[in-house]
Amino acid sequence: MPARIVTVAQQKGGAGKTTLVVQLATACAARGFGVAIVDIDPQATLAHWMRLREQGARGVRELRFSMVGGWRLGVELDRLLRDVELVFVDTPPHAESEAKGAIRRADLVLVPAQPSPPDLWASAATFDLARKEGRPARLVWTRVPPRGRAVEEAGAEAARRGWPALSAVLGNRRSYVASFARGLGVIEAEPRSAAAAEVEALVGELEGWLRG
Ligand SMILES: Nc1ncnc2c1ncn2[C@@H]1O[C@H](COP(=O)(O)OP(=O)(O)O)[C@@H](O)[C@H]1O
Ligand SMILES: [Mg+2]
Repeated sequence: MPARIVTVAQQKGGAGKTTLVVQLATACAARGFGVAIVDIDPQATLAHWMRLREQGARGVRELRFSMVGGWRLGVELDRLLRDVELVFVDTPPHAESEAKGAIRRADLVLVPAQPSPPDLWASAATFDLARKEGRPARLVWTRVPPRGRAVEEAGAEAARRGWPALSAVLGNRRSYVASFARGLGVIEAEPRSAAAAEVEALVGELEGWLRG
């Protein structure tokens, strides 16, 4: 199976990038993929999560982790791709230059956004970059409120702009925050939760593609 790179990018800070990387990486590892995660965000939130993971949890699937400056990403990816099947790259709220290299190398770009107009609009820069680099990109709705038509409405606007969205979404759930604080994914911390079911559905939707 060819190794695959998934870059999670979105100009807006706090959009849910690092959360998405953590949830996808842990769920894919649980399915038996060899997984690496790479942090190119100088804020190093993913690195912090990884430290918590290493300190606490026992018996969780191993993840390879690298923290690199954007300029070293290419070399690091070449190295990781020899050892694992999937690499998830977590990016800073960009600033073209940093995200560009990560998008250029991506087999798939995932763009997390809350289903609200300002969050959707903030996705433009990422979709533009992905289009310039000829990389496929998909919106992932996150922090979706439990009731209402937010996803339908934002989805219609995204469709008008030519930005495809995955059908699986992540709700606005405490489980995501709580598992993160323990260095875990929801699949590990609360396998029977609604959040875990959402992450499973997301990986299920991506799986054919992840297997190449
Ligand atoms: N689906 C979600 N439900 C609830 N809280 C979330 C969800 N996704 C992210 N968050 C919270 O929102 C904040 C920002 O998320 P984060 O993943 O760090 O965003 P980014 O990496 O884009 O800056 C964090 O406090 C995180 O716990
Ligand atoms: Mg982040």
